[in-house]
Amino acid sequence: MENFVFSIPTVAYFGKGQIESLGSAIRRFGGSKVLLAYGGGSIKRNGVYDDVVKQLDAAGLPYAELSGIQPNPRLKSVEEGVALYRESGCDFILGVGGGSTLDACKAIAAAAGYEGEVMDLLDGTAEVSGAAPLGTVLTMAGTGSEMDSGGVITVGEDHKKHVIFHQELYPKFSILDPEYTFTVPQWHSMAGAVDILSHLMEQYFTPDCGTEVQDRMNEGLMKAVIDNTPKVLENPEDYDARANVMWASSMALAGFQFRLGKPMFPFPVHYIGHELSSLNDMTHGVSLALVTPAWMRHTMRKNPESTPVFAQFARNVFDVREADDAKAAEQGVVLLERFFASVKMPANLREADVPEDKLEYLAEKAVEHGELGILAKLDRDDVLRILKDAY
Ligand code: NZQ
Ligand code: ZN
Repeated sequence: MENFVFSIPTVAYFGKGQIESLGSAIRRFGGSKVLLAYGGGSIKRNGVYDDVVKQLDAAGLPYAELSGIQPNPRLKSVEEGVALYRESGCDFILGVGGGSTLDACKAIAAAAGYEGEVMDLLDGTAEVSGAAPLGTVLTMAGTGSEMDSGGVITVGEDHKKHVIFHQELYPKFSILDPEYTFTVPQWHSMAGAVDILSHLMEQYFTPDCGTEVQDRMNEGLMKAVIDNTPKVLENPEDYDARANVMWASSMALAGFQFRLGKPMFPFPVHYIGHELSSLNDMTHGVSLALVTPAWMRHTMRKNPESTPVFAQFARNVFDVREADDAKAAEQGVVLLERFFASVKMPANLREADVPEDKLEYLAEKAVEHGELGILAKLDRDDVLRILKDAY
C-alpha cells in the first residue's frame, strides 16, 4: 500500500430535519450573506426551497438567488453566479440540488477568488486559491459532489466536460436529508445509483496494491447500493433505502478513500461516459451503465492478467461461487448487466439513441488527453471497440 493523506473537511449533517442546522452551519463557517444557487425548480415544487429560505430568514442571513442551473451544468451558469456573488456582496455559497448544482457552485466558489477567466481554472492554466466557502443541501444521491473536492462543468460547442479539483472546493458542510430525495424521478434516482456504483468500481478495478481495507469496505458499499436501489425503485419513499443510497453516494467519493494507497487515478469509464453526455446531454449515470460491461470485457481481453480482480468482484459482490477466474469474471459482468437492466437502464447505445456514425468521433474525443485506464491502457481503437460492443 502506498502512502497517503486522508482528510475530509466536510461536516455531514445526515438525516431527517437536519435542515434546522443550516443557519448555524453557515454562521460557523463565516457566512453573513449567501448566494443561494439551485437548478430548474424541483426544489420549489417539493418544498425544499421553502425549508431553506425559512432557515436563512430565521438566522437573519440575507441571500441572492441564482436559479436555472441545468443538468450537465454549463459555463454560463458559473459566470452568472460569479457576477452575482460579487455584485451582491455575498461571502458564502449555498448549493441546493443534485450534482449539477453543487458542481456549478464549486466552480463559482473557485472563480470568486480569482480575477481572470473562469476557464483558466477549468483548463488548469490557473490554480484554485482563495475559493469562497461553500455549503450544500443535497436533493439527489449519485455524484458524491456533496463530500468531494471536484466538479464537472460542460464547456464550448463540443460540450466538453472539464473537471475541476481542489482541496479548497470541499463543501464546508453538507445537509443530507434522505426525505429530500423522495421526489427524484425514477430515471434520475436509478442513474444516480449507477453513478455511485461506478465510482466504487472505478476505484476498485486496479492492480492489486495490497489495499485490503479499502477494497473490502468498497465491496460492502457496492453490495449496499445493489441491495437498496431496487427498494427505491419499488417505493421511492422508503426512508432507509433512500438513506443508504444517499450515504453511499457521499462515502463513495469522500476523499477518494477507496483509491487511497493505490498509486494511480483510474476512472476510464467516466472519461468515455462523459463523451456520451457531451454528444447528446445523456444523463451521467446512464452513460456509465452503457459503457461499463463492454469496458470490463475489453479490459480482460486486452490484459488477461486483469481477470482475477474482475473474478474477485464477481465473488465478493455478487456471491458467484465459480472457481475458474475467467468464468467467474464473466458471470460477474452478466450479473452486473442484469442489475442495470433491473434498474431500468437502456440495454445498449442503440436503445439510448446514440447515432452509430458518431462512435469514431466519441472514441477520438475520449482519448483527447491521452490513453485511458490502468488495468489495460486504452487508445482510440480500444475505446472504439468498447463503444461498438456496447452498441
Ligand atoms: O434542476 P432541478 O430542477 O433541481 O432537477 C434535477 C435535474 O433535472 C432533478 N432533481 C434533483 N433533485 C431532485 C430532482 N427532482 C425532483 N426532486 C429532487 N429532490 O434531477 C435532475 C438531475 O439532476 P443533476 O444534478 O443533473 O444530477 P446528478 O446529481 O446526477 O449530477 C450530474 C452531474 O454531476 C457530474 C456529472 O458529470 C453531471 O454533470 N458529476 C460530478 C461529480 C463530482 N462532483 O464529483 C462526479 C460524477 O462522476 C459526475 O461526473
Ligand atoms: Zn460519476
